[in-house]
Amino acid sequence: MSSSSFGFSSYARPIVVFGRDGQVGKEFQIYLGGLNASVVFLGRSDCDLSSELSITETLNKYQPQVIINAAAYTAVDKAETQPELAFAINAKAPTLMARYIANVPYGILVHYSTDYVFGDNKQSAYFETDTAGPVEKLSVYGQSKLAGEQGIEEVFNSAKNYWDSIHQEQLSRYFILRTSWVFGEGGNFIRTMLRLAAERDQLNVVADQVGVPTSAQWLAEVGMQMARSHAESGIYHAVPDGETSWHDLAVFAIETAATCGEGIEFKPENIHPITAVEYPLPAKRPYNSRLNNKKLKNALSRIAFTGKYPHWRDQVERYVREHVEQSLKS
Ligand SMILES: NC(=O)c1ccc[n+]([C@@H]2O[C@H](COP(=O)([O-])OP(=O)(O)OC[C@H]3O[C@@H](n4cnc5c(N)ncnc54)[C@H](OP(=O)(O)O)[C@@H]3O)[C@@H](O)[C@H]2O)c1
Repeated sequence: MSSSSFGFSSYARPIVVFGRDGQVGKEFQIYLGGLNASVVFLGRSDCDLSSELSITETLNKYQPQVIINAAAYTAVDKAETQPELAFAINAKAPTLMARYIANVPYGILVHYSTDYVFGDNKQSAYFETDTAGPVEKLSVYGQSKLAGEQGIEEVFNSAKNYWDSIHQEQLSRYFILRTSWVFGEGGNFIRTMLRLAAERDQLNVVADQVGVPTSAQWLAEVGMQMARSHAESGIYHAVPDGETSWHDLAVFAIETAATCGEGIEFKPENIHPITAVEYPLPAKRPYNSRLNNKKLKNALSRIAFTGKYPHWRDQVERYVREHVEQSLKS
């Protein structure tokens, strides 16, 4: 896609991407790196998102037109003992970004959030209109991400009242893309399963938690599609079609790797289903991580999204194939 069709090349102010070195951030580097748009990719050494001063200085320095926040405190278990840090990075930092961009005419904030904002108060897929929480049922990570969503929404709601009276067409917008079970260039469940399948004879994998595996590459693509769209501000559930359990995802990934030359001896029947209770972890994980993607699908169809809306199986298959090809080369 050319930079002109992208619609950002005419802006004097740059696109600033936080979280350059994360799974989603790396995909933004690939996706935006080749475009003729003005983009700044920032990592932890450029801006410490736990520091208000560092964030303010960075925003004043680059004066972005578009902020992509792909950064987060994602160490879910560690967050249980580091709540202040998790809240600083996951709640305070995106709120400060919102405060900045809400005052920029035509400004855009793309922020990523998570299924962990839901506390198993529903059996079926969550809609964006479902109430998040209850907070007491969420992990610290989930609480901090929810506080980040709320911080962004509060800032934009109050800015809207101000801008409404001036230039409504200049109103800045935000997109909170809630996603789940992300895999990309970094540590993730699929990579762990492929490694363990090469090392062990038997695996026990949780089978009573259900969600939607989501490609980091696709998340970056969707983030930019939304940023260049005229879609309404708000929360969108950004997951592919379908759903699965961790157990079935492990079976699918290992079977796929075996069919594309990984030389895996491991038999998928040796992946034993267990319950989450049998695999205790410091932070509570949702049993139900299903996110309904209808709102995003509608928005993408209105902006002529070039790709076919994906199913998680296609994304995982492609990812495993690429992963195997890379490891065979090295
Ligand atoms: N991973 C998942 O399964 C999952 C599921 C649902 C939602 N999400 C959400 O999706 C988004 C992207 O996730 P991801 O998997 O790409 O995350 P990730 O790979 O863990 O990357 C997070 C990035 O944030 C950066 N970061 C953390 N603390 C920072 C700080 N104090 N200052 C500056 N940068 C800091 C990290 O920097 P370093 O590289 O220096 O550590 C890292 O590059 C996040 O909002 C996450 O909450 C993820």
